[in-house]
Amino acid sequence: MSIIAIVGNKGGAGKTTLSLNIATGMKNRGRTAIIDADPQRSSLQWRAFAENDAVSVYEANNELGVQAQILMQDYERIIIDCPPSVFAPQTNKALVISDRAVIPVQPSPMDLWATIHIVEAVEQAQQTNPRLRPLLVINQLEPRTILSRLVRDAVKEIGIPVADTMIRRRTIFRSSALEGKSIYEVGRRGDEAVEEIEQLIQEIMQ
Ligand SMILES: Nc1ncnc2c1ncn2[C@@H]1O[C@H](COP(=O)(O)OP(=O)(O)OP(=O)(O)O)[C@@H](O)[C@H]1O
Ligand SMILES: [Mg+2]
Repeated sequence: MSIIAIVGNKGGAGKTTLSLNIATGMKNRGRTAIIDADPQRSSLQWRAFAENDAVSVYEANNELGVQAQILMQDYERIIIDCPPSVFAPQTNKALVISDRAVIPVQPSPMDLWATIHIVEAVEQAQQTNPRLRPLLVINQLEPRTILSRLVRDAVKEIGIPVADTMIRRRTIFRSSALEGKSIYEVGRRGDEAVEEIEQLIQEIMQ
C-alpha cells in the first residue's frame, strides 16, 4: 500500500497532526513524503519550521493524481493531507488515487455526524478505485469521559472499519508541532504518543 489520504469533513479533527506524525513514523520504515492538499497549507508551514531531515512536504497542484504518480518514483509512501471537506475537489482527487483513507474524528456528536458524508464520498470513490480502504480513527480521546465512551460505541454504527488504536488528547501533539517537530523528535516526552502512532501505523499497513 502506498498512497494514504488523511480526510475529514470537519476542521480540527487532526488531519494535519496525524499526517505529520504518521509520515514521520513511516519514514523510519522507508521513503515517505507528504502532499499538502489543504489550501490552509498547515503541513507546509510546519515543514518551514522543521529540521532539514524532517519528512518532505510538497504543495499539491491541480493534477494531484499525476503529481502523486511522479512522486511515487522517489517515495514508497505518500501521505495526502486533505482539506476539511469532502466536497473539496482535492479530497475526491485524493480518494480516487489512494489505497487508504484515514479519517480522524473527534469524540463529539457533531464531528461524528459530519463523518457520514465521508462514508458516501469513500463509497463513490470506490466505484473508480476499488483498492480504497477506509479507516476511521478516534483522535483527541479523553478516555475517562462518558462522552468518549458513548462516541466509541456510536462510531461503530457508521458502517466503516474503526481503528482499534485511539489517539488520546495529549499536549505533546501540540507542543511538538509548535517546535517544528514530530512526536518522534521530542525524546521521552513523546514516548506514549509514539506508541499510539506506531500502533496506528501497524493497523494502516495491514
Ligand atoms: N491527539 C491530539 N492531542 C492534542 N491535540 C491535538 C491532537 N490532535 C490534534 N490536536 C490539536 O488540535 C488542533 C487541530 O488539529 P489539526 O490541525 O491537526 O486538525 P486538522 O484536521 O488538520 O484541521 P484543519 O481542518 O483546520 O486542517 C491543533 O491545534 C492540533 O495541535
Ligand atoms: Mg489541517
